[in-house]
Amino acid sequence: MKVLVLNGPNLGRLGTREPAVYGRTTHAELAEQCRATGAALGLDVEVRQTDAEHEMLGWLHEAADDGAAVVLNPAAWTHTSVALRDACAALTAPLVEVHISNVHAREPFRAHSYVSGVATGVVAGLGTDGYLLALRWLAGRAAQG
Ligand code: DQA
Repeated sequence: MKVLVLNGPNLGRLGTREPAVYGRTTHAELAEQCRATGAALGLDVEVRQTDAEHEMLGWLHEAADDGAAVVLNPAAWTHTSVALRDACAALTAPLVEVHISNVHAREPFRAHSYVSGVATGVVAGLGTDGYLLALRWLAGRAAQG
């Protein structure tokens, strides 16, 4: 099963960006953990990050065309982008929305997500482990057929 792990703006700076909120794992380390976990689960995992919304939209269109599952941390676009939600709504395979921090325990503007309403499920507040949990769930679902 093909899974795209897609990370939005500023997540390329994981490791040094507000470590008290997002931890010390770098994006390269997170990508490696996702690939290793995916390989152990029999998933074909690809990890990408962008600060450009049009690029993220293109990746979501690609996932829709390929029927790929998506693990998406939309980062700040979570709270701002109808375009991102519309692209997510067109996916055909499961979509798991992941947030490293507990967005519901932070500033009020982070509590609303344009994506959650079209996601299969949401993981928030479990650090970078949330990505690995999302992959485990996708593998379990794929095994159920
Ligand atoms: C985030 C939470 C968002 O509110 C924030 O803009 C991010 C990261 C998270 O992973 O906790 O960039 O999506």
